[in-house]
Parts: sequence; C-alpha cells; structure tokens
Amino acid sequence: MITIALPKGRIADEVLAIFTSIFGSEFAFVDRKLILQKDNFRFLLVRSQDVPIYVLYQAVDLGIVGLDVLEENRLDIIRMLDLNIGKCKVVLGSKEGNSIDFNKPQIKIATKMPNITRDFFSKRAVAIDVIKLYGSIELAPLVNLADAIVDIVETGNTMKQHNLKVDEVIMESSAYLIANKNSFYAKKTDILEIYNKLESLITKI
Ligand code: PRP
Repeated sequence: MITIALPKGRIADEVLAIFTSIFGSEFAFVDRKLILQKDNFRFLLVRSQDVPIYVLYQAVDLGIVGLDVLEENRLDIIRMLDLNIGKCKVVLGSKEGNSIDFNKPQIKIATKMPNITRDFFSKRAVAIDVIKLYGSIELAPLVNLADAIVDIVETGNTMKQHNLKVDEVIMESSAYLIANKNSFYAKKTDILEIYNKLESLITKI
C-alpha cells in the first residue's frame, strides 16, 4: 500500500485524473470523504500547507504540493519530481498607482508566507514588519493594514479586482511529488514505479 497526501482543490482533481489515465480505473473522492482507497493506493485530502507535515511524519509515503509551500516550510523531505501542474507565482504586490517607499524605516508586508518574505527582503537589506495572515491577503493594503503583500498569483484576477499590481515576481511555483525519506527506501520499487509513470506522462504533455 502506498499512501499519498493531496492538497484540496484543483491540484487534487488534476492528480486523480492523471492516476485515472495511468492506471486505467477511476480515481475520485466520493461526497465529502477525505480518504480514497483503491487498488494499492490510499489518497488523503489535506490543506496544502499541511501536505509536507504528513510526509515528514510518515503519516503518508508521498505527497503532492506546490514548490511555494516547500520553500516556505523547509522540511527534511525528498523532492522527487516537478509535475508541471498547479503553476502560479509568488509576488510582491501593492496598490495600483502607488509605489512602495523602500526608504521608510519599516515597511509592513502582509503575507501567509513569512519565511519566503523575510528571505526576499533580507537579501535586499530592507527592514520589514511581517504581518502574518491566513488568507484574503489582498485586503491588507486596501485597509492600510500593510504597505504591500507577498502572495500567490495564478490568473491575477484577485489582485486586479482589488486594484493591486504586481511589483515583482519572487518565485515561480508548480506542484511537486515529494516523498518521506524512510518510505522512499522501504518502498523504493513501488515509489519508483509511480515516479516513472508520472514522469513519462508529464514529458508527453
Ligand atoms: C490564492 C491567493 C490569492 C488567489 C490568487 O488564494 O492567496 O488570493 O489564490 O488567485 P488568482 O490570481 O487566480 O486570482 P487561495 O485560493 O489559495 O486561498 P487562501 O487565500 O484561502 O489561501
């Protein structure tokens, strides 16, 4: 049995579609169920930020999660394969028509990614106050909770609809297959089989 943690939402649907086409039988969660057991696989549906934790503690063997989440969490897990799905960018953004005043003694940045944010600004020797939020980051500059935000942009619609602009792209992200270190050695044959099937499908796309 191989267990795999998937992030809730669009990536989970895409991954199950990929498994359906690889293994020729339908993989889909039923109703509000968070567990899908089929053939030799068990999939768990978790919040994307939690995927690396499940993998680190070997609650699952494998996980699929965005590179942005891996860069933010920095845990001791194996990055196996870029799946080329779930593409997005981590950006610095602020109000349209304003430019960020980097000479201010302290700039307030709202984000759900404090580590990526601190790294980005420390490389530029800019002092910031990180305001950690858990979602709806785009609201922060509009109500002067922050001077700017560091957030995920996929289509760009959310930022546009709130009169925000992208000032800089901090990193590009896509979904990665990750593995627990012990599982990787204990279940190497099975895991490499999945890896090879995913890889040949990705290169075909
Ligand atoms: C992300 C991000 C933006 C939105 C961007 O939020 O924080 O709000 O998606 O997408 P767009 O560029 O296509 O408009 P997410 O959906 O992950 O929800 P969350 O804020 O609850 O984490």
